[in-house]
Amino acid sequence: MLFLNKYAIQKIDQNIIQTAVEQAYRLVLSQNYNMPDRMHVADRQNILLLMPCFSEKFFATKLVSVFPEAQKHGQPAVNGVMVLSDNVSGQPLAVMDGAAVTAQRTGAVGGLGVKLLTAETVKTAGVLGAGVQGLSQARYLLFNRKIKTLYIYDLYEESAISMSRTLKKEYPNVEYVITEHSNQLVENSNVIIAATTSSKPLFEITPDVVMGKTFISIGSFRPDMQEFPNTVIENADDIFVDTMFAAKESGDIAIPLKNHVVTKDEIKEFAGLLEKNTYPETRTVFFKSVGMALFDLAVSSAIYQLAVENNIGQTLDF
Ligand SMILES: NC(=O)c1ccc[n+]([C@@H]2O[C@H](COP(=O)([O-])OP(=O)(O)OC[C@H]3O[C@@H](n4cnc5c(N)ncnc54)[C@H](O)[C@@H]3O)[C@@H](O)[C@H]2O)c1
Repeated sequence: MLFLNKYAIQKIDQNIIQTAVEQAYRLVLSQNYNMPDRMHVADRQNILLLMPCFSEKFFATKLVSVFPEAQKHGQPAVNGVMVLSDNVSGQPLAVMDGAAVTAQRTGAVGGLGVKLLTAETVKTAGVLGAGVQGLSQARYLLFNRKIKTLYIYDLYEESAISMSRTLKKEYPNVEYVITEHSNQLVENSNVIIAATTSSKPLFEITPDVVMGKTFISIGSFRPDMQEFPNTVIENADDIFVDTMFAAKESGDIAIPLKNHVVTKDEIKEFAGLLEKNTYPETRTVFFKSVGMALFDLAVSSAIYQLAVENNIGQTLDF
């Protein structure tokens, strides 16, 4: 059995991860997988998710916890373990750092959103939240588009500064601007990605500022958590979700539904976009991701196959 730590997983080519996420969406279209709704165990403000999924060759389970206040203890909010097994013999094949797999695949989910929903010429973007997912979102955004100016906002300015320093080493030609207020970021950006642990909308906005922009929500993992104000979803031409489960699980969809700001039939599955050749560049779009076990399965099996071919990781005996 192979053990892959975060250093091994962080080094995997972004193209391999994003292609695996795209393949996961293709499995959604063909319905060729077996994935129950994930199990949510809430304990105070914290959550443990149990995420199993089967495909033809592999099955995988991710055990992942989200502790929104972990930052107070200098620790990341998301932790976990990923187990990949063979779906013919049932044997466990690999154990991986679940937080690293999550960061990579969630970055790629956002990245694919950017690739399919924004104009190739887009030059300004903003990331709200400079934590683990914020950094990964920024990496996949910059991987997909030649952004000239990237705005970053976090409750803690030092987190935003630290993220800009990391990105500067990888993408030195981008101008990084740390904003004092989230509204300033949203006004100046054509693509806005939020990856925070906030329960309340992160900014205020008027309908004229919403128009023509792409909004991607990665945080808000409970029905009472909302990163985007209703004005965004209300004025969006298109609303996409990575899985329909988002309508139940995330306040970014559940709250506007409850308040009759949108109706259920306005919400479309992102996978449907893969059947189209192009997406019109002038639309106002809201894309909500809550993630799903199928992404973890597709990404961890791609990582495993690459690791075996290239002798990456440590072999362990049970
Ligand atoms: N959609 C998915 O598939 C997916 C996957 C993993 C994590 N998530 C979610 O993404 C969110 C972020 O996770 P993470 O691992 O990056 O956590 P993290 O703790 O590393 O980072 C969160 C960041 O958000 C910032 N923040 C919190 N409230 C804010 C506010 N009001 N305004 C600005 N910044 C604020 C914090 O200061 C912190 O820097 C969590 O809610 C997590 O559940 C979603």
